[in-house]
Amino acid sequence: MTFPENFLWGASSAAYQIEGAWNADGKKDSIWDHFSHEPGHIAHGETGDVACDHYHRFREDVALMKQIGLKSYRFSVSWPRVIPDGTGEVNEQGLQFYSDLVDALLEAGIEPLITLYHWDLPQALYEKGGWKNPESPAWFEAYARVIARRLSDRVRYFMTFNEPQIFIGLGLQIGAMAPFEQNDTDTMLAISRNFYLAHGQAVSALRQEARQPLKIGMAPTGDVYLPKSGTPEDVEEARRASFAVDAGAFTLGNSWWADPIFLGHFSEDAEALFGDRLPRFTPEEWALIAQPLDFYGFNVYQGTTHYPVPADGYPDYAYQGSPRTTLDWNVTPEVMYYAPKFLYERYHLPIMITENGMAGMDWVSLDGHVHDMQRMDFLHRYLLSLGKAIQDGIPVIGYHHWSIMDNLEWCRGYDPRFGMIYVDYRTQKRTLKDSALWYADVIRTNGKSLYALSDC
Ligand code: BGC
Repeated sequence: MTFPENFLWGASSAAYQIEGAWNADGKKDSIWDHFSHEPGHIAHGETGDVACDHYHRFREDVALMKQIGLKSYRFSVSWPRVIPDGTGEVNEQGLQFYSDLVDALLEAGIEPLITLYHWDLPQALYEKGGWKNPESPAWFEAYARVIARRLSDRVRYFMTFNEPQIFIGLGLQIGAMAPFEQNDTDTMLAISRNFYLAHGQAVSALRQEARQPLKIGMAPTGDVYLPKSGTPEDVEEARRASFAVDAGAFTLGNSWWADPIFLGHFSEDAEALFGDRLPRFTPEEWALIAQPLDFYGFNVYQGTTHYPVPADGYPDYAYQGSPRTTLDWNVTPEVMYYAPKFLYERYHLPIMITENGMAGMDWVSLDGHVHDMQRMDFLHRYLLSLGKAIQDGIPVIGYHHWSIMDNLEWCRGYDPRFGMIYVDYRTQKRTLKDSALWYADVIRTNGKSLYALSDC
């Protein structure tokens, strides 16, 4: 089999994780700049101050992307690089960086996909309450407008948010990511309200300012449960669990965020759990929040993680000696079949895989190459599952490997390496890993090479 025509074979990144240049050319702090400069938040006291120095080396990086043959590249814009105080004055030099990056990508024949928000809230806005402030949807709308005005003549694909599950769930409810807060349920419900409106207002702003027809989506993640067997009952049970709303960490699930945005209402679970405490919206607000989108972006790594992981025993799908990555995440290729299937069947939009990959402890071998066999096998298995979903009629329009290059893995620092391009942080030397060369073949054959060694 080959993949659909015009399939977007891509790779992803995020501003804070690769750009560096944390205070260059008028940029001010994001919450990640701020908290990484406080001791105790990031492994080894590392920061994104320099990271991969992509801000200064993006031309070299785009040349490597071209060498791999990427059809698309998903990156995020740093809000405080473009609007240093979060609202008000626009920083032309910051915008110019993204404009130059887009030009370089287009010149290399690579479709740019922009995520507006990959967690780096301007610190100035955090000091005004951040996502708790009812003004936050208006701040985000104004920022979206600036980006659309400047870049939508050349960029066709936009995503509003990356993973509300993480920046709101882990950042503001569980306290494991910046800004490391643990808020009560009522506050989380108020934050959620602001999030839905911020998404809706940004989509409207993008469409109003668009210089060409745009394709707009979001890039959430969320636990996807795997059926215990292929029986219809087990598949239904896995589907139910995948869209359930957990009474505790309700912000970590899929449907909490996606049902209002993609279906225009809260799920039955959410209604049962919170009743009258749920955010209420006028019909006009619902229309804004749930306005039609073009695709369902999804970041998918493993079957459910059960956060926090139990101290004894294993989370689902792990067992003594089971295949796991450097972050202890399960290798469960079936999730790449069931996630697109469940999400398409519930939300009826084409699926775009916006992130997938694995962390390793790769290093450069004596021969100068990076032999990341495990990543190649991981990708091979996951892509075969994606192919199976496509064969079963699920419309999938793209796949983006996380990540294009090794980078700052948030609180875990630089140890876990997710890239297809190895980065030596001491010299900033880049080396294409074996997986990048392997992926180049997959792209060149539009997926056909995946089937060479396999009868799947
Ligand atoms: C995020 C990335 C992150 C990756 C691996 C996703 O949650 O969007 O920023 O590096 O997973 O943890």
